[in-house]
Amino acid sequence: MIFRKKGGEEGTGQTGTITPETVLEALKNVKDPEIGRPLVELGMIRDVRVCGGQVAFEVQLTTPACPLKATIEQDCRKAVLSIPGVEQVNIEWSSRVPQGRRREQQPVPGVKHIIAVASGKGGVGKSTVAVNLAVALASSGAKAGLLDADIYGPSIPLMLDIQQTPMLVKVRDPETGEDVQRMAAPEKFGLKLMSLGFLADTDTPVIWRGPMVASAVRQMLTETDWGELDYLVVDLPPGTGDAQLSLAQIVPLTGVVIVMTPQDVALTIATKALRMFEHLNTPLLGIVENMATFVCPNCGEESEIFGHTGAGQRAAEEMGVRFLGRIPLDPRIVTDSDAGIPTFIRDPESRPGQAYASIASQVAAEISVQTLTGPRPSRRPADAATGPR
Ligand SMILES: Nc1ncnc2c1ncn2[C@@H]1O[C@H](COP(=O)(O)OP(=O)(O)OP(=O)(O)O)[C@@H](O)[C@H]1O
Ligand SMILES: [Mg+2]
Repeated sequence: MIFRKKGGEEGTGQTGTITPETVLEALKNVKDPEIGRPLVELGMIRDVRVCGGQVAFEVQLTTPACPLKATIEQDCRKAVLSIPGVEQVNIEWSSRVPQGRRREQQPVPGVKHIIAVASGKGGVGKSTVAVNLAVALASSGAKAGLLDADIYGPSIPLMLDIQQTPMLVKVRDPETGEDVQRMAAPEKFGLKLMSLGFLADTDTPVIWRGPMVASAVRQMLTETDWGELDYLVVDLPPGTGDAQLSLAQIVPLTGVVIVMTPQDVALTIATKALRMFEHLNTPLLGIVENMATFVCPNCGEESEIFGHTGAGQRAAEEMGVRFLGRIPLDPRIVTDSDAGIPTFIRDPESRPGQAYASIASQVAAEISVQTLTGPRPSRRPADAATGPR
């Protein structure tokens, strides 16, 4: 992106003193708006070049899905154009998702962040959020995967219209240097995928006991060849059951996205999920409010059918976590799911499509913030039993 000074703001012609150091000095007070630390200190300004009054540099974002790129661009531009003699600023963009600092934060080799999508109760749209979150992250340019940990009712094969038995491949274990056998993750819509639906005969009901659940989830997670992933989204079964508990115990999750609907007794349900993950020492990334408003399929008008819109935002504020966004109730989401095409893919410009994209940006931003500054201290709502107001 090239910026020039507007007329009347022409430089002084004193270009002799501009050096990469002058540029870095001018940029030293420009902070990442979310992380609150200077871009220079975070190593986000790279490859500064000066040619006469022309300055070029690279800004390396902490995620390709960065929601505040425009603000960063504006702040950098303003800072560099304030150097006497600078006529033109050329910013190149790149991204590199930071990895958790603790070694155990990368429990699956090659996978930087594991994000679980959970809820306090069933049927609130977890799987739909997980699928659209994953495809939106992938379409932003991130390397993303999706693990269907709902072993009781795997939904990914249907929602993405994919039924593939994973092939077995030999890969080198980075720890031991030995060849090990792994399942190659089937791919669709730019995502690496794994689901029990790929492995088991779906017509045969399986009676799962706690330890079996834990081992099935562990096996899918650790015995899949995910390659290099920035984000692995995990769709959890409803409630506070075995797969939720075992996943949080097997792997240190980067964090959990809680999905809720406004007609829930919002704070009670969300608090239950919050407590469980808090107990397991798992950070919360934030809350998504699903099916908050109704979008008329004929006229496109959005109406508040439940009268509780905003419950998710209030719950997030009271708990001190990020409100990640709101998805309207839209019948096309159901038909898209049934047709095996995520709404974000079928129509990214639709209202739900844009909502999913924005949620993906917010999740990615929260991961960057928590990775670079540590988990947020969570708060408990003052009165968890009051429900939506
Ligand atoms: N915003 C939405 N608008 C309309 N329908 C939706 C929306 N989100 C999800 N749905 C539909 O609601 C139903 C339940 O969604 P989904 O399967 O994602 O929920 P879940 O929380 O994963 O359920 P479970 O607890 O059974 O795993 C599906 O038919 C889905 O298509
Ligand atoms: Mg589900």
